Amino acid sequence: MKIDILSVVPDLLQSPFAHSILKRAKEKGLLEVNVINLRDYTTYARAQVDDYAFGGGAGMVMMIEPLVNAIESLQKVNQYDEIVYLTPDGQRFDQKMANTYSLKNNLLLICGHYKGIDQRFRDHFVTQEISIGDYVLSGGEIAAAVMVDAIGRLIPGVLNDETSALTDSFQDNLLAPPVYTRPEEFRGWKVPEILLSGNHKLIDNWRAEQALKRTQERRPDILDAE
Ligand code: ADE
Repeated sequence: MKIDILSVVPDLLQSPFAHSILKRAKEKGLLEVNVINLRDYTTYARAQVDDYAFGGGAGMVMMIEPLVNAIESLQKVNQYDEIVYLTPDGQRFDQKMANTYSLKNNLLLICGHYKGIDQRFRDHFVTQEISIGDYVLSGGEIAAAVMVDAIGRLIPGVLNDETSALTDSFQDNLLAPPVYTRPEEFRGWKVPEILLSGNHKLIDNWRAEQALKRTQERRPDILDAE
């Protein structure tokens, strides 16, 4: 999968994909992430990409022209499956969306800044608008990094143990059960006996029960979700 990210602060996105699972995904050739500087596509002086909002009001708006220059140049060499605009008024990102996106080939993520981007660009170029949660970030970069992380680890072949993504929280409308590792006892706090029993059927049942209990206690809303 190839993911292009269009940003006015590309430096913000240097580190998130250079470690751990995403690094491995890149090394295995399963994921390519390119960060593109929107300022490379403006024809305005001093690499300007924003301007005052028509109608007045506080805050700047990202201009349509640099965005269109960038996208039309990128589209000459890419056929994007989706052109995503990260924005707090978009559709809420969740595990189901991450699963769907992990099967795509080529994505363009557009990071907004200031008061957002000119509505005409949203109307004519963007195919999906996504929010990572009901709070406002100072730009779309961290939201884009969250999306790439959630999607990247689901790309077939990225995780060593394929089943480990299947037991993640949210994959079956359930939160994940508690996990333990060595030592068996620490300050008198013991690991549940059943996990040491070696009986995999009993362990699977215990984990299923714990996942259900945790979901009922913490997130009953996701139990009946589709
Ligand atoms: N940009 C600013 N806030 C955001 C959010 N919550 N989700 C996605 N993009 C954003």
